[in-house]
Amino acid sequence: MINPLPIVIASVATLAVVLFSSLKGTGWDPAGDVSDEMLERRAKSVPETEFPEPGNRAIGGGGGGAIPAGGGEGELEDEAATSTGPGDIAEDEVEYYEIEFAKQGEMVELANDEPILDQGEEEGWDLPYACRQGQCVSCSGRITDGPAEDFVEHDNQQMLESAELDDGYTLTCVAYPRDSFSIETGESP
Ligand code: FES
Repeated sequence: MINPLPIVIASVATLAVVLFSSLKGTGWDPAGDVSDEMLERRAKSVPETEFPEPGNRAIGGGGGGAIPAGGGEGELEDEAATSTGPGDIAEDEVEYYEIEFAKQGEMVELANDEPILDQGEEEGWDLPYACRQGQCVSCSGRITDGPAEDFVEHDNQQMLESAELDDGYTLTCVAYPRDSFSIETGESP
């Protein structure tokens, strides 16, 4: 026969533990919001920088105000204003070259501070173009006197390869005359 005494004792003990823990709880006393304390510690351990670093913004030690006055956009604008390209030539230093437009049957004087395309249009010719930024070949022409870069300076042309330039091809929208030459407009490699 089974002795019921151990079962009864175990049941009573289990009930007592459950009752005791539900009455007293865990006894853990939650601390206050630790985030402020963490931020304070970080503020002491991380030196302030001039950058608008997120940590600095959170503790009020930096943020947008850390960007020096007069910096940022202003500096970029200044750089753009001072950057020079092949067309940035002082008015009293502009030179002119005799350029033959073979297909138009005309010889004209072109300034060295303006692209060939613009000056050709000023002559009233309907010359081909698309982007006007050296990023396609719609405006290309061929200088028949030799390698293009012996006669023009390109302002950031991105399409013609060295061999094509050596064959005389030029992008007239970004090509500034540097010597006299003959050109066939509307010719592409
Ligand atoms: S028009 Fe596109 S490169 Fe000249």
